[in-house]
Amino acid sequence: MNATIIKLPKIEDPRGNLSFIEELIHIPFKIERTYWIYDVPGGQVRGGHAFKEQKEVIVALSGSFDVVVDDGKLKQTFSLNRSYYGLFIPSGLWRQMENFSTNSLALVLSSTHYKDEDYIIEYNEFLDFRRNNEK
Ligand code: TYD
Repeated sequence: MNATIIKLPKIEDPRGNLSFIEELIHIPFKIERTYWIYDVPGGQVRGGHAFKEQKEVIVALSGSFDVVVDDGKLKQTFSLNRSYYGLFIPSGLWRQMENFSTNSLALVLSSTHYKDEDYIIEYNEFLDFRRNNEK
């Protein structure tokens, strides 16, 4: 399964726009955790790893950044810069976040609680994981 961009609801209003996410409606999983990444110094890279189980949706609530998603064979770069788009990343994909603009804010909705054991942090281990889980 590939990473995909999800267009979120956007209620346009002269008073300011509003978007929202409801679990199992706009995104295909129940949300067990949310976290956000902010105050990223210029040039820093976050999240170079994969998750065995965690599925996630990443939203650029403010500013912009790129998410590079890698299935072990192909890499795809998604540039997020609108708060009404979410990037859905299924489990088992390597992903890295980079090119953060000043004051950017990345919201991550996760299908799991935080579990250290869910991380694959070695790229070779990730490639083994992909081979072992190929359908
Ligand atoms: P990590 O997932 O490695 O950050 P990133 O993917 O952005 O590079 O997490 C950094 C640290 O924060 C690590 O020590 C684990 C901790 N952490 C939690 O305790 N709970 C969480 O929900 C997350 C995402 C991280």
